Amino acid sequence: METRNFFSFFFVPLCIGLVTLVILFTWGPYTPPYATDLLDCTTNSAWCASKNRFQSKPPNSLVKNKNHHNHNHASDAPHHPLDPLTVQELNKIRTILSSHALFKSSSPYALHSIELEEPDKPLVLRWKKGDPLLPRKASVVARASGKSHVLTVDLTTSEVSVHQSGSNSGYPMLTMEDIIAAASVPLVNARFNRSIIERGVDLTDLACLPVSSGWFGEYEENRRRLIKVQCYSVKDTVNFYMRPIEGLTVLVDLDTKQVVEISDKGASIPIPRAANTDYRYSAQELSKVIKLVNPISIEQPNSPSFTIEDDHLVKWANWKFHVKPDARAGVIISQARVRDPDTGELRDVMYKGFPSELFVP
Ligand SMILES: *[C@@H]1O[C@H](CO)[C@@H](O)[C@H](O)[C@H]1NC(C)=O
Repeated sequence: METRNFFSFFFVPLCIGLVTLVILFTWGPYTPPYATDLLDCTTNSAWCASKNRFQSKPPNSLVKNKNHHNHNHASDAPHHPLDPLTVQELNKIRTILSSHALFKSSSPYALHSIELEEPDKPLVLRWKKGDPLLPRKASVVARASGKSHVLTVDLTTSEVSVHQSGSNSGYPMLTMEDIIAAASVPLVNARFNRSIIERGVDLTDLACLPVSSGWFGEYEENRRRLIKVQCYSVKDTVNFYMRPIEGLTVLVDLDTKQVVEISDKGASIPIPRAANTDYRYSAQELSKVIKLVNPISIEQPNSPSFTIEDDHLVKWANWKFHVKPDARAGVIISQARVRDPDTGELRDVMYKGFPSELFVP
């Protein structure tokens, strides 16, 4: 399968939000002018005049962001007990684990997740800026020789403790290597190839991807790591999701890279046509494109109302909190505190929360 195709498969499902943003930015006829490139204010007068006023001098926030882009994370150091693992710490974990008995054998292994093992809450609450950092530990989920392992790596002592091996329930998160491998497994099966050809799809136009990570019950006793793979035709479109090969699902064993089962029930379901499936602006018939929206302007002319201290501590209005990314939860907000208007003191509001779990009824 071609690399070109691979990128489009994975980019789309993983980054739909990002794509939406990119589309928003590339669709608009209006590119924000900056500094020397001021607007012609014969239309949008009030909006335009204020825009020009702000644009004629570089906004502070942009200048700051620029510096941030050049920030070299290789030399990052943790400042707070909840700061995420740094590049140096991740490298150290890899070195420690590569000489651990579980991973020493020649067979390949994968580290599915490495994250900070947060110190206990009372310790974190007692910790004050200026105190020595609490011992740094990492929680690791790894897979080796067909077994999953949950480990703790102590970064100070280089000690590794194994909590669970083999028989634990659940499965590690998929890696990109898992996804790429699963997508090509169906093609080792002659019956699968035949079924594709019988549907009039050229094997070179085939795009398969594992869409369903999850638990399906039936094979529990074998403790196999399975995933269902579905396929599409990329012929004459970049938008292959619009050309699904219906009723054909391949159950794949991620460890042995074998086909476990093929469910082939949709031979009579036609594959949708490629016509008019290209979503890109360049592919639209211009006469049919709706009039694009008027410009919008969202600004903080006096720079943002938040500041970031030590890379992760955010102060915003009367709030203060720690923020970090997490591979599973997304953004984690910790130790959120608000300045109480009655006492003037910072008051604890939330120890730890995930915006991804925010529910607004
Ligand atoms: C199925 O088709 C692919 C692509 O043409 C080919 O590489 C593969 O060897 C075929 N598999 C079998 C079992 O014939």
